[in-house]
Amino acid sequence: RVTFKVGLLGLGTVGTGTAQILLDPADRQPLLQELELYRVGVRSLDKPRSVDISRDRLTTDLESIVRDPAVDIVVELLGGLEPSRSLILTAIAHGKHVVTANKAVIARYGEEIFAAAADAGVYVLLEAAVGGGIPVIEPLKQSLCANRIQGILGIINGTTNYILTRMQREGGDFGPILADAQRLGYAEADPTADVDGWDAADKIAILASLAFGGRVERSQITCEGIRAITASDIAYAEGLGFTIKLLAKAKRQHQGDTWRLEASVYPTLVPLSHPLASVNDVYNAILVEGDPVGQVMFFGPGAGAGPTASAVVADILNIAAVLSAGSDRDHLDPLLACRYLQTVEL
Ligand code: HSE
Repeated sequence: RVTFKVGLLGLGTVGTGTAQILLDPADRQPLLQELELYRVGVRSLDKPRSVDISRDRLTTDLESIVRDPAVDIVVELLGGLEPSRSLILTAIAHGKHVVTANKAVIARYGEEIFAAAADAGVYVLLEAAVGGGIPVIEPLKQSLCANRIQGILGIINGTTNYILTRMQREGGDFGPILADAQRLGYAEADPTADVDGWDAADKIAILASLAFGGRVERSQITCEGIRAITASDIAYAEGLGFTIKLLAKAKRQHQGDTWRLEASVYPTLVPLSHPLASVNDVYNAILVEGDPVGQVMFFGPGAGAGPTASAVVADILNIAAVLSAGSDRDHLDPLLACRYLQTVEL
């Protein structure tokens, strides 16, 4: 029987959730039993862990995992730009497939990473980078690929949606609610990225790159977070028949025979009758409008250990399934690579 060895980088909230699934394969997809959590890269060996991994699998030498000839699939769950970008590129250069939940790295270095992966004939999958447990990346790449995408509109940051929802329900203060979001494992290590909209900007950049076939820079996205929103703003909005949501948008704007992409993240008044108005707490929703499909909405838990690990392990299993089937590695994932390498006017 073939066993695929997984090298996991990072044992924080999502890393722990991922390890838990890999170590408990019973009654799940049978292919899980062919995955071995082989080595785990951590920042500290002595930190107490809520998952039972033998200490001899842990190392603080992350570089040794991405270079280890025995590792088939590297799972990068460190977050942040470096050393994540370098480790991903080294893993690819060593012929390893990569699964990542790192939206910041993909939004900034996606082009470089996918070009390297195409050269090396390896997969880089990132379902967990946008929308936590919601399948949206693979559906955009695969199931909706016949469409001309007209626009994407969504709530794609769980932390801010959780904060806005509780401010609406309780009229509570921003600070303690943010602390709860951090405790529940929704927020980034530095929650500034959530609160100021940059996490959502990275995610809409990734979705727009996939949907519209271009490279969308974070600096090209108009971005405003939720710091200035108060509970009374939300109460006033409600009195007028609206709620306030942090919406991320990417839209095709036609200009004569050509079109431009407009991308933004900002707090928006959403009519209470709109489907996005009832997306609450840590839930995310992404509304995709395509020609000819019309409107499709993806909805589910947008952050947290379990939902995000669900997406990470799905990517690992999808790679393992292709490897088990012995597919031609030179032709892996052409759609993703091609779409990233096109350019579009912004
Ligand atoms: N901090 C992110 C959020 C985690 O709150 O949505 C999931 O990407």
